[in-house]
Amino acid sequence: MVYSGNNDTGKAERVNTPALKKQVTLRTLRKMKAQAEKFVTVALYDAPMAAMAKKSGVEVVLVGDSLGMTVLGFDSTIPVTMEQMIYHVEAVRRGNDKSLIIGDLPFMSYATPDTAMENAARVMRAGANMIKIEGGEWLQDTVKMLSDRGIPVCAHLGLTPQSVNKFGGFRVQGRTQEQSEQITKDAIALEKAGADLVLLECVPQALAKDITKALNVPTIGIGAGRDTDAQVLVINDILGLTEHPPKFSKNFLVETLDIPGALTKYTQDVKSGAFPHDDNIFC
Ligand code: KIV
Repeated sequence: MVYSGNNDTGKAERVNTPALKKQVTLRTLRKMKAQAEKFVTVALYDAPMAAMAKKSGVEVVLVGDSLGMTVLGFDSTIPVTMEQMIYHVEAVRRGNDKSLIIGDLPFMSYATPDTAMENAARVMRAGANMIKIEGGEWLQDTVKMLSDRGIPVCAHLGLTPQSVNKFGGFRVQGRTQEQSEQITKDAIALEKAGADLVLLECVPQALAKDITKALNVPTIGIGAGRDTDAQVLVINDILGLTEHPPKFSKNFLVETLDIPGALTKYTQDVKSGAFPHDDNIFC
C-alpha cells in the first residue's frame, strides 16, 4: 500500500507500506527474534482498524481489555466481561485474516486453571490465535494446562492493569532490586511452563533488555524501552485520541494526518528503531 503523507515541511511524501501477504504465526515471530528483526503489535478493537493494520504490515493485533477504557468509557479494565472480549475479538478477526490475533482474558476469567481453560477456549473460538493473561509464577499451572492443550499463551508482566488496586495506581514496576528479580523469575518460570510470548509493560529499559536476552520466546514491550523483540501501542494513543497520553506513547497522526499513514509510520519507526524515542523510556 502506498499513501501520501506530509513531512515536516508540509510537502507530501510517498511512503511504501508492506501489506501482510501470509498469515503471521508464532513461527514467524520466533524467526524474527532469531534474526533480530522487530515485529509490530497494535492493541485495537474493531474490523476497520484491523483491516488497516493488515494493510500496514502490523504482524500482531492485540484485542486488549484496555477496550474497557478506550472504547467503553470505564476508568480501568476491571469491569470488562468475557462477552465484551468475544464481541471485539470476532469483529477484529472479520477485518483481518493475516495478523496473529491475541485475545485478552479479562479480570477474574482465569482465576483458576479450569476457568482459564473454559474462557480461553471461548476467545480462541471467537477467532484469536493466542490468549493473554496477567500475572507471574502463580500462573505456571494455568499456562502449562493451556499450552499442553494447544492454546498459546502470552504472559503479561510488569504493570499488569488488572492489579491496579494492588499497585495503588498505574505505576512503573521493577525499579527496586526485589521487584526486578521477581519479574525476571516470573518471566523465566512462565516460559518454562509453556508461554510463547512475554509482554512487559512499564518496566525499566535495562530490565526488559535482560529479560529479552534471557528468554528464547519473543518479548513485546510497552513502556519497556527499545530492546524488546517487539513494541505494542494502543490505537487510541497512536491516533491522538487519549486525553492524557502516557509518556511511553506517541501520536503518529500529528505527523501523517491520516489513519493509514499513522499506522504505517508507527510500523516503520518500530522496525527502524526510531520508536521508542528517549522521551518514551523509563529508567
Ligand atoms: O489491554 C491492552 O491493550 C494491553 C496493552 C496495553 C499491552 O494489555
